[in-house]
Amino acid sequence: MKAFVIKAGSTSFEGLVQVEKTKPVAGPGEILVEMRAASLNFRDLLIPLGRYFGGPVPTDLIPLSDGAGEVVAIGAGVTRFKVGDSVCGTFFRNYLDGPPAAADRPALGSPIDGVLAEYVVFNQQDAVLIPSNLTFIEAATLPCAAVTAWHALMVAGRPVRPGDNVLVLGTGGVSLQALQLAKAAGARVLVTSSDDKKLERARALGASGLINYKTHPEWHTEVMRLTNGHGADCVIEVGGAGTLKSSMLSLAYAGKIAMIGVLSGFQGDTNPHAVMLKGGNMHGIFVGNRAMFETMNTAIEVNDIHPIIDKIFTFSQTAEAFAYMQGQSHFGKVVLSIG
Ligand SMILES: NC(=O)c1ccc[n+]([C@@H]2O[C@H](COP(=O)([O-])OP(=O)(O)OC[C@H]3O[C@@H](n4cnc5c(N)ncnc54)[C@H](OP(=O)(O)O)[C@@H]3O)[C@@H](O)[C@H]2O)c1
Repeated sequence: MKAFVIKAGSTSFEGLVQVEKTKPVAGPGEILVEMRAASLNFRDLLIPLGRYFGGPVPTDLIPLSDGAGEVVAIGAGVTRFKVGDSVCGTFFRNYLDGPPAAADRPALGSPIDGVLAEYVVFNQQDAVLIPSNLTFIEAATLPCAAVTAWHALMVAGRPVRPGDNVLVLGTGGVSLQALQLAKAAGARVLVTSSDDKKLERARALGASGLINYKTHPEWHTEVMRLTNGHGADCVIEVGGAGTLKSSMLSLAYAGKIAMIGVLSGFQGDTNPHAVMLKGGNMHGIFVGNRAMFETMNTAIEVNDIHPIIDKIFTFSQTAEAFAYMQGQSHFGKVVLSIG
Protein backbone atom coordinates (compact mmCIF):
# COMPACT_ATOMS: atom_id res chain seq x y z
CA MET A 1 0.00 0.00 0.00
CA LYS A 2 0.99 3.66 -0.43
CA ALA A 3 1.92 5.65 2.66
CA PHE A 4 3.91 8.72 3.59
CA VAL A 5 6.60 8.66 6.23
CA ILE A 6 8.62 11.31 8.00
CA LYS A 7 12.16 9.99 7.75
CA ALA A 8 14.07 9.43 10.99
CA GLY A 9 15.93 12.60 12.00
CA SER A 10 13.90 14.84 9.64
CA THR A 11 14.24 18.61 10.18
CA SER A 12 12.45 19.83 7.02
CA PHE A 13 9.49 18.94 4.80
CA GLU A 14 12.03 17.17 2.54
CA GLY A 15 11.89 14.45 5.16
CA LEU A 16 8.31 13.64 4.06
CA VAL A 17 8.51 10.84 1.49
CA GLN A 18 6.04 8.51 -0.17
CA VAL A 19 6.80 4.81 0.39
CA GLU A 20 5.33 1.37 -0.24
CA LYS A 21 4.42 -0.55 2.90
CA THR A 22 2.86 -3.92 3.57
CA LYS A 23 -0.91 -3.66 3.88
CA PRO A 24 -1.73 -4.24 7.57
CA VAL A 25 -4.09 -6.93 8.82
CA ALA A 26 -6.76 -6.57 11.53
CA GLY A 27 -5.90 -8.78 14.50
CA PRO A 28 -8.25 -9.71 17.35
CA GLY A 29 -10.24 -6.68 18.50
CA GLU A 30 -8.98 -4.56 15.59
CA ILE A 31 -10.50 -2.99 12.47
CA LEU A 32 -8.83 -2.41 9.11
CA VAL A 33 -9.77 0.99 7.69
CA GLU A 34 -9.32 2.09 4.09
CA MET A 35 -8.48 5.75 4.59
CA ARG A 36 -10.34 8.25 2.37
CA ALA A 37 -9.07 11.56 3.73
CA ALA A 38 -6.71 13.08 6.28
CA SER A 39 -6.29 16.63 7.52
CA LEU A 40 -3.42 18.73 8.79
CA ASN A 41 -3.03 20.33 12.20
CA PHE A 42 -0.41 22.85 13.29
CA ARG A 43 1.46 20.12 15.21
CA ASP A 44 1.81 18.11 12.00
CA LEU A 45 4.04 20.88 10.63
CA LEU A 46 6.31 20.81 13.68
CA ILE A 47 6.96 17.04 13.56
CA PRO A 48 8.84 16.80 10.21
CA LEU A 49 10.63 20.04 11.14
CA GLY A 50 11.99 18.24 14.23
CA ARG A 51 10.40 20.86 16.51
CA TYR A 52 7.69 18.81 18.25
CA PHE A 53 8.09 17.31 21.75
CA GLY A 54 11.40 15.49 21.94
CA GLY A 55 12.91 16.81 18.69
CA PRO A 56 13.30 14.95 15.37
CA VAL A 57 11.51 11.59 15.06
CA PRO A 58 13.85 8.72 16.03
CA THR A 59 12.45 6.24 13.46
CA ASP A 60 10.44 6.57 10.24
CA LEU A 61 6.91 7.62 11.21
CA ILE A 62 3.60 7.85 9.31
CA PRO A 63 2.35 11.42 9.87
CA LEU A 64 -1.05 12.95 10.76
CA SER A 65 -3.51 12.21 13.54
CA ASP A 66 -6.72 13.20 11.77
CA GLY A 67 -8.33 11.03 9.13
CA ALA A 68 -11.49 9.21 8.13
CA GLY A 69 -12.19 6.06 6.18
CA GLU A 70 -14.25 2.93 5.73
CA VAL A 71 -13.97 -0.31 7.68
CA VAL A 72 -13.01 -3.02 5.17
CA ALA A 73 -12.21 -5.90 7.56
CA ILE A 74 -12.71 -6.71 11.22
CA GLY A 75 -10.73 -9.01 13.50
CA ALA A 76 -12.07 -11.64 15.85
CA GLY A 77 -14.17 -10.30 18.70
CA VAL A 78 -14.96 -6.90 17.16
CA THR A 79 -18.38 -5.72 18.31
CA ARG A 80 -18.28 -1.91 17.96
CA PHE A 81 -18.03 -1.87 14.14
CA LYS A 82 -18.92 -3.81 11.01
CA VAL A 83 -17.52 -3.81 7.49
CA GLY A 84 -18.80 -0.74 5.62
CA ASP A 85 -18.90 1.58 8.65
CA SER A 86 -17.42 5.07 8.24
CA VAL A 87 -15.00 5.86 11.06
CA CYS A 88 -12.31 8.13 12.47
CA GLY A 89 -9.52 6.99 14.77
CA THR A 90 -9.26 8.81 18.09
CA PHE A 91 -6.27 11.15 18.59
CA PHE A 92 -5.07 9.24 21.66
CA ARG A 93 -4.97 5.48 21.93
CA ASN A 94 -6.52 4.02 25.05
CA TYR A 95 -8.26 7.19 26.26
CA LEU A 96 -11.96 6.47 26.48
CA ASP A 97 -13.27 8.80 29.18
CA GLY A 98 -12.45 10.88 32.24
CA PRO A 99 -9.67 13.34 33.00
CA PRO A 100 -6.13 12.94 31.66
CA ALA A 101 -4.11 10.51 33.79
CA ALA A 102 -0.64 9.04 33.78
CA ALA A 103 -1.35 6.11 31.49
CA ASP A 104 -0.02 4.77 28.21
CA ARG A 105 -2.00 6.98 25.83
CA PRO A 106 0.20 7.59 22.79
CA ALA A 107 -1.13 9.87 20.04
CA LEU A 108 -1.48 9.20 16.33
CA GLY A 109 1.11 10.90 14.15
CA SER A 110 3.63 11.14 17.03
CA PRO A 111 4.82 9.08 18.77
CA ILE A 112 2.88 6.28 17.01
CA ASP A 113 2.19 5.94 13.29
CA GLY A 114 -0.57 8.20 12.01
CA VAL A 115 -3.15 7.98 9.25
CA LEU A 116 -1.48 9.17 6.02
CA ALA A 117 -1.65 5.73 4.41
CA GLU A 118 -4.09 3.79 2.26
CA TYR A 119 -4.89 1.40 5.12
CA VAL A 120 -4.67 1.80 8.89
CA VAL A 121 -5.47 -0.67 11.67
CA PHE A 122 -7.13 0.64 14.85
CA ASN A 123 -8.10 -1.19 17.99
CA GLN A 124 -11.91 -1.04 17.99
CA GLN A 125 -11.84 0.95 21.24
CA ASP A 126 -9.79 3.70 19.54
CA ALA A 127 -12.27 4.61 16.80
CA VAL A 128 -15.68 6.27 16.47
CA LEU A 129 -18.42 6.36 13.83
CA ILE A 130 -18.34 9.60 11.87
CA PRO A 131 -21.38 11.91 12.01
CA SER A 132 -23.86 10.72 9.38
CA ASN A 133 -24.16 14.19 7.82
CA LEU A 134 -20.45 14.45 6.96
CA THR A 135 -18.34 13.35 4.00
CA PHE A 136 -15.01 11.62 4.60
CA ILE A 137 -13.26 14.90 3.73
CA GLU A 138 -15.24 16.76 6.39
CA ALA A 139 -14.95 14.02 9.03
CA ALA A 140 -11.19 13.92 8.55
CA THR A 141 -11.02 17.30 10.35
CA LEU A 142 -12.51 16.07 13.62
CA PRO A 143 -10.15 13.91 15.78
CA CYS A 144 -7.74 16.63 16.95
CA ALA A 145 -9.05 20.05 15.93
CA ALA A 146 -12.76 19.62 16.60
CA VAL A 147 -12.41 17.49 19.75
CA THR A 148 -10.07 20.13 21.16
CA ALA A 149 -12.62 22.85 20.43
CA TRP A 150 -15.45 20.78 21.96
CA HIS A 151 -13.41 20.01 25.09
CA ALA A 152 -12.62 23.71 25.53
CA LEU A 153 -16.18 24.91 25.02
CA MET A 154 -18.27 22.17 26.57
CA VAL A 155 -16.24 20.08 28.99
CA ALA A 156 -13.59 22.27 30.65
CA GLY A 157 -15.14 24.35 33.44
CA ARG A 158 -18.66 25.67 32.93
CA PRO A 159 -20.02 24.61 29.53
CA VAL A 160 -20.78 27.45 27.14
CA ARG A 161 -24.46 28.38 27.17
CA PRO A 162 -26.77 30.57 25.09
CA GLY A 163 -25.88 34.24 25.28
CA ASP A 164 -22.24 33.68 26.28
CA ASN A 165 -19.53 35.59 24.46
CA VAL A 166 -16.96 33.20 23.01
CA LEU A 167 -13.70 34.67 21.69
CA VAL A 168 -11.70 32.68 19.14
CA LEU A 169 -8.19 33.75 18.14
CA GLY A 170 -7.35 33.61 14.44
CA THR A 171 -9.15 31.66 11.75
CA GLY A 172 -7.25 28.35 11.77
CA GLY A 173 -8.63 24.85 12.22
CA VAL A 174 -9.34 24.79 15.96
CA SER A 175 -10.73 28.33 16.02
CA LEU A 176 -13.26 27.84 13.23
CA GLN A 177 -14.42 24.50 14.63
CA ALA A 178 -14.93 26.36 17.92
CA LEU A 179 -16.82 29.15 16.13
CA GLN A 180 -19.24 26.66 14.59
CA LEU A 181 -19.80 24.63 17.77
CA ALA A 182 -20.20 27.76 19.89
CA LYS A 183 -22.78 29.22 17.48
CA ALA A 184 -24.74 25.97 17.62
CA ALA A 185 -24.75 26.27 21.42
CA GLY A 186 -26.31 29.73 21.14
CA ALA A 187 -23.21 31.77 21.93
CA ARG A 188 -22.13 35.08 20.39
CA VAL A 189 -18.75 34.62 18.75
CA LEU A 190 -15.97 37.17 18.45
CA VAL A 191 -13.07 36.41 16.09
CA THR A 192 -9.63 37.97 15.78
CA SER A 193 -7.64 37.73 12.56
CA SER A 194 -4.67 39.31 10.81
CA ASP A 195 -6.78 39.63 7.66
CA ASP A 196 -9.97 41.65 7.06
CA LYS A 197 -11.06 39.34 4.25
CA LYS A 198 -10.94 36.37 6.62
CA LEU A 199 -12.95 38.38 9.14
CA GLU A 200 -15.63 38.91 6.50
CA ARG A 201 -15.71 35.15 5.92
CA ALA A 202 -16.04 34.64 9.68
CA ARG A 203 -18.98 37.05 9.67
CA ALA A 204 -20.65 34.88 7.03
CA LEU A 205 -20.30 31.94 9.46
CA GLY A 206 -22.15 33.89 12.13
CA ALA A 207 -19.38 35.71 14.01
CA SER A 208 -20.71 38.99 15.35
CA GLY A 209 -17.52 40.60 16.70
CA LEU A 210 -14.67 41.03 14.21
CA ILE A 211 -11.24 42.30 15.32
CA ASN A 212 -8.10 42.67 13.25
CA TYR A 213 -5.29 41.94 15.72
CA LYS A 214 -2.70 43.59 13.45
CA THR A 215 -4.49 46.93 13.27
CA HIS A 216 -5.61 46.55 16.93
CA PRO A 217 -2.55 45.18 18.78
CA GLU A 218 -4.38 45.93 22.06
CA TRP A 219 -7.30 43.86 20.82
CA HIS A 220 -8.72 43.19 24.28
CA THR A 221 -10.02 46.78 24.26
CA GLU A 222 -12.05 45.89 21.16
CA VAL A 223 -13.39 42.76 22.87
CA MET A 224 -14.58 44.95 25.75
CA ARG A 225 -16.07 47.57 23.40
CA LEU A 226 -17.89 45.00 21.27
CA THR A 227 -19.35 43.26 24.33
CA ASN A 228 -20.42 46.51 26.06
CA GLY A 229 -17.84 45.98 28.80
CA HIS A 230 -18.90 42.39 29.59
CA GLY A 231 -15.90 40.59 28.05
CA ALA A 232 -15.48 37.00 26.88
CA ASP A 233 -17.05 34.19 28.89
CA CYS A 234 -14.81 31.72 27.07
CA VAL A 235 -11.53 32.33 25.23
CA ILE A 236 -10.21 29.75 22.78
CA GLU A 237 -6.53 30.52 23.49
CA VAL A 238 -4.55 29.13 20.56
CA GLY A 239 -1.89 31.88 20.60
CA GLY A 240 -0.05 31.07 23.82
CA ALA A 241 2.44 33.34 25.58
CA GLY A 242 2.20 36.18 23.04
CA THR A 243 -1.61 36.48 23.20
CA LEU A 244 -2.31 35.43 26.78
CA LYS A 245 -2.06 38.91 28.26
CA SER A 246 -4.80 40.24 25.97
CA SER A 247 -6.85 37.07 26.47
CA MET A 248 -6.75 37.62 30.23
CA LEU A 249 -7.72 41.28 29.77
CA SER A 250 -10.61 40.16 27.56
CA LEU A 251 -12.20 37.98 30.22
CA ALA A 252 -15.69 38.43 31.62
CA TYR A 253 -16.21 37.94 35.35
CA ALA A 254 -15.93 34.20 36.08
CA GLY A 255 -14.95 33.61 32.46
CA LYS A 256 -12.67 30.80 31.34
CA ILE A 257 -9.58 30.65 29.17
CA ALA A 258 -8.95 27.35 27.40
CA MET A 259 -5.17 27.08 27.05
CA ILE A 260 -4.65 25.28 23.76
CA GLY A 261 -1.90 26.54 21.50
CA VAL A 262 1.42 28.21 20.90
CA LEU A 263 0.88 30.03 17.58
CA SER A 264 2.41 33.28 18.84
CA GLY A 265 5.57 31.61 20.10
CA PHE A 266 6.88 31.38 23.63
CA GLN A 267 7.55 35.00 24.64
CA GLY A 268 4.98 37.20 26.35
CA ASP A 269 3.68 38.92 29.44
CA THR A 270 1.96 36.27 31.51
CA ASN A 271 1.27 38.32 34.64
CA PRO A 272 -1.96 36.61 35.81
CA HIS A 273 -3.36 39.63 37.69
CA ALA A 274 -6.27 40.12 35.29
CA VAL A 275 -7.52 36.55 35.88
CA MET A 276 -7.53 37.15 39.61
CA LEU A 277 -9.48 40.40 39.31
CA LYS A 278 -12.10 38.70 37.11
CA GLY A 279 -12.44 35.56 39.22
CA GLY A 280 -11.53 33.76 36.01
CA ASN A 281 -10.44 30.21 35.27
CA MET A 282 -7.72 28.77 33.08
CA HIS A 283 -7.93 25.21 31.78
CA GLY A 284 -5.20 23.27 30.03
CA ILE A 285 -6.60 21.34 27.07
CA PHE A 286 -4.86 18.42 25.37
CA VAL A 287 -7.30 17.28 22.68
CA GLY A 288 -9.73 14.97 24.51
CA ASN A 289 -11.12 11.50 25.03
CA ARG A 290 -13.40 9.22 23.03
CA ALA A 291 -16.49 10.13 25.05
CA MET A 292 -16.02 13.80 24.12
CA PHE A 293 -15.60 12.82 20.46
CA GLU A 294 -18.84 10.82 20.45
CA THR A 295 -20.87 13.50 22.22
CA MET A 296 -19.53 16.14 19.85
CA ASN A 297 -20.47 13.99 16.85
CA THR A 298 -24.06 13.96 18.07
CA ALA A 299 -24.01 17.77 18.28
CA ILE A 300 -22.56 17.94 14.76
CA GLU A 301 -25.33 15.69 13.42
CA VAL A 302 -28.21 17.37 15.26
CA ASN A 303 -27.08 20.85 14.19
CA ASP A 304 -25.95 19.71 10.73
CA ILE A 305 -22.57 21.38 11.18
CA HIS A 306 -20.12 21.06 8.28
CA PRO A 307 -16.46 21.82 9.11
CA ILE A 308 -14.91 24.60 7.04
CA ILE A 309 -12.55 23.15 4.45
CA ASP A 310 -10.14 25.66 2.96
CA LYS A 311 -8.42 23.46 0.38
CA ILE A 312 -8.20 19.81 -0.63
CA PHE A 313 -4.92 18.35 -1.92
CA THR A 314 -4.34 14.89 -3.40
CA PHE A 315 -2.26 12.26 -1.61
CA SER A 316 0.73 12.83 -3.89
CA GLN A 317 0.56 16.60 -3.15
CA THR A 318 1.31 16.03 0.55
CA ALA A 319 4.49 18.15 0.66
CA GLU A 320 2.63 20.97 -1.12
CA ALA A 321 -0.18 20.77 1.45
CA PHE A 322 2.28 21.06 4.35
CA ALA A 323 3.94 24.11 2.73
CA TYR A 324 0.53 25.67 2.04
CA MET A 325 -0.58 25.20 5.65
CA GLN A 326 2.68 26.71 6.90
CA GLY A 327 1.94 29.87 4.86
CA GLN A 328 -1.11 30.53 7.11
CA SER A 329 -3.25 31.85 4.27
CA HIS A 330 -5.78 29.11 5.02
CA PHE A 331 -9.21 29.65 6.58
CA GLY A 332 -10.27 26.50 8.43
CA LYS A 333 -8.87 23.11 7.46
CA VAL A 334 -6.41 21.80 4.87
CA VAL A 335 -7.33 18.26 3.80
CA LEU A 336 -5.71 15.49 1.75
CA SER A 337 -7.89 13.08 -0.22
CA ILE A 338 -6.60 9.51 -0.16
CA GLY A 339 -7.29 6.85 -2.77
N1 LIG B 1 -3.70 21.54 23.16
C1 LIG B 1 -4.27 20.84 22.21
O1 LIG B 1 -4.87 19.79 22.43
C2 LIG B 1 -4.22 21.34 20.80
C3 LIG B 1 -5.02 20.74 19.80
C4 LIG B 1 -5.01 21.32 18.53
C5 LIG B 1 -4.22 22.42 18.26
N2 LIG B 1 -3.43 22.93 19.26
C6 LIG B 1 -2.62 24.12 19.03
O2 LIG B 1 -3.52 25.18 18.75
C7 LIG B 1 -2.93 26.08 17.82
C8 LIG B 1 -3.84 26.19 16.61
O3 LIG B 1 -3.81 24.97 15.88
P1 LIG B 1 -4.50 24.88 14.45
O4 LIG B 1 -4.22 23.53 13.92
O5 LIG B 1 -5.89 25.39 14.52
O6 LIG B 1 -3.60 25.96 13.66
P2 LIG B 1 -3.74 26.60 12.26
O7 LIG B 1 -4.95 26.10 11.54
O8 LIG B 1 -2.43 26.47 11.57
O9 LIG B 1 -3.98 28.15 12.62
C9 LIG B 1 -3.30 29.13 11.91
C10 LIG B 1 -4.00 30.46 12.10
O10 LIG B 1 -3.84 30.92 13.42
C11 LIG B 1 -3.88 32.33 13.43
N3 LIG B 1 -2.75 32.90 14.17
C12 LIG B 1 -1.43 32.74 13.96
N4 LIG B 1 -0.73 33.48 14.84
C13 LIG B 1 -1.64 34.11 15.62
C14 LIG B 1 -1.56 35.05 16.68
N5 LIG B 1 -0.39 35.50 17.13
N6 LIG B 1 -2.72 35.50 17.22
C15 LIG B 1 -3.92 35.06 16.78
N7 LIG B 1 -4.05 34.19 15.77
C16 LIG B 1 -2.93 33.73 15.20
C17 LIG B 1 -3.82 32.78 11.98
O11 LIG B 1 -5.14 33.22 11.64
P3 LIG B 1 -5.38 34.57 10.82
O12 LIG B 1 -4.74 34.34 9.49
O13 LIG B 1 -6.85 34.70 10.79
O14 LIG B 1 -4.70 35.68 11.59
C18 LIG B 1 -3.40 31.53 11.25
O15 LIG B 1 -3.90 31.47 9.93
C19 LIG B 1 -1.54 25.51 17.53
O16 LIG B 1 -0.60 26.12 18.41
C20 LIG B 1 -1.68 24.05 17.86
O17 LIG B 1 -0.45 23.46 18.20
C21 LIG B 1 -3.42 22.40 20.50
